[in-house]
Amino acid sequence: PEESRAVIIIFGGSGDLASRKLYPALFNLYRRGVLAEHFAVIGTARRPWTDDHYHEVVENAVAGDDVDRDQAKAFAQHFFYQSHDVTDADHYITLKNLAAKLDDQYVTGGNRIFYMAMAPDFFETIASHLKSEHLLTERGFNRLIIEKPFGHDYASAKELNDSLTATFDDDQIFRIDHYLGKEMIQNLLAFRFDNAIFEGVWNKDYIDNIQITLSEAVGVEERAGYYEKAGALRDMVQNHVMQVLSYLTMPKPKTFTANDILTAKDQVFAALKPYDLATAKENFVRAQYASAEVDGDQVLGYRQEEGVAADSQTATFVAGKIMLDMPQWEGVPVYIRTGKRLTRKSTQLTLTFEPVTSPLFNRETGSQPDSLTIYIEPSEGYSLQLNGKALGTGFNIEPDELRYRHDPEAAAAAPEAYERLINNVLEGDQTNFTHWSELSASWRFIDAIQAAWSQETEMPTYPAATMGPQAAFDLLARDGRQWFWQP
Ligand code: BG6
Repeated sequence: PEESRAVIIIFGGSGDLASRKLYPALFNLYRRGVLAEHFAVIGTARRPWTDDHYHEVVENAVAGDDVDRDQAKAFAQHFFYQSHDVTDADHYITLKNLAAKLDDQYVTGGNRIFYMAMAPDFFETIASHLKSEHLLTERGFNRLIIEKPFGHDYASAKELNDSLTATFDDDQIFRIDHYLGKEMIQNLLAFRFDNAIFEGVWNKDYIDNIQITLSEAVGVEERAGYYEKAGALRDMVQNHVMQVLSYLTMPKPKTFTANDILTAKDQVFAALKPYDLATAKENFVRAQYASAEVDGDQVLGYRQEEGVAADSQTATFVAGKIMLDMPQWEGVPVYIRTGKRLTRKSTQLTLTFEPVTSPLFNRETGSQPDSLTIYIEPSEGYSLQLNGKALGTGFNIEPDELRYRHDPEAAAAAPEAYERLINNVLEGDQTNFTHWSELSASWRFIDAIQAAWSQETEMPTYPAATMGPQAAFDLLARDGRQWFWQP
């Protein structure tokens, strides 16, 4: 790989995300030679840390059985810590001078990456100071990486976007959705557009319905402060589910380039059929996990978790039906569900095909509609369920499964989402990032559902370690369908 050059400034350098994801990702890029000699990282945060302490933090963050300690030490030498109050203009001057000095020292060509990896309350403040204190360089590139949440509704997202675009051009802004860095999400494009057997059937004529499940076994963990204000709809649906939906349903891009892919995705976002208050209630279900005994242990209910209000109205589960107003998907429901404390962790997508047009065999013979399942995580692969004749003298039909999974060891060795995404930023490739047109469309869609829910006073529950409330099953049953995956 070609070596990248940049001074990377991380706002939130002492934070959890930086240690858990960013430092390991940068280290892997270092091990692969994408980052070599010509880079420096400035970590900023409020607390007063020395460079020595920061080096320890970075070394600990990348430590592991397969890690050469000398290499980790050499890597950490590229890191510098700057205590920083994001509201104090003077601090940006100090930061600018340090960046300029490191730029000279490491010969980074004036390239800057600004990474917002902290509480979203400060995104706008930081962006405006970067402009007013002239931190963007004239020479080299300037790129901004911004973490979620990108607003909490359409209005706040727009305000944030306006403030970012006052400092950065749109093509300098890289809005992270880490699902777009996942191997199997990226693979959806190859799978869909490089297989003749699917090209002709990926539409309403052959597909009966689409199902998207992003199921998590964990609860709210230590994130109640954030999650109480977000809930499953904002935390998972507005971003990850919507992105996955667009990858599954976008028309074929003209070419395999960022612009054409975005144009194709935009068609999906523009086609989201909006709900009003009444139809939102009919088509979206929410619930909260309740305490239950799981493998002999009593698991807490959401309202008993630390930092959660005893009368919290935050949903930890969402299921919904989404319709797309585009000719190739007319009448094809996309059922989505996601939640915390579900049966187990699994991200999987299923397309169920229409029954054959003039069947020789009826359902009593065992005939089932074909279906294709794409496994995103934790296992990675595909299953195609087809009909075949059961062994024996009679003529019974049974579903057979064509099954492929990536080798788990090879899959585990492949780069993690953050490594791919940061690599993309270094290359200036916007493909795997979300754009304002997508965000604005998905927020408008989500806002209507949130508005409908805010009128309700009852919060339905589901026992921990189940697949959500009965209403999530009824949502499909009323259409004569069911969830394909029922663990
Ligand atoms: C994050 C959400 O965006 O995605 C978390 O904030 C969630 O609540 C996580 O746990 C799930 O990501 P993954 O990669 O584990 O499926």
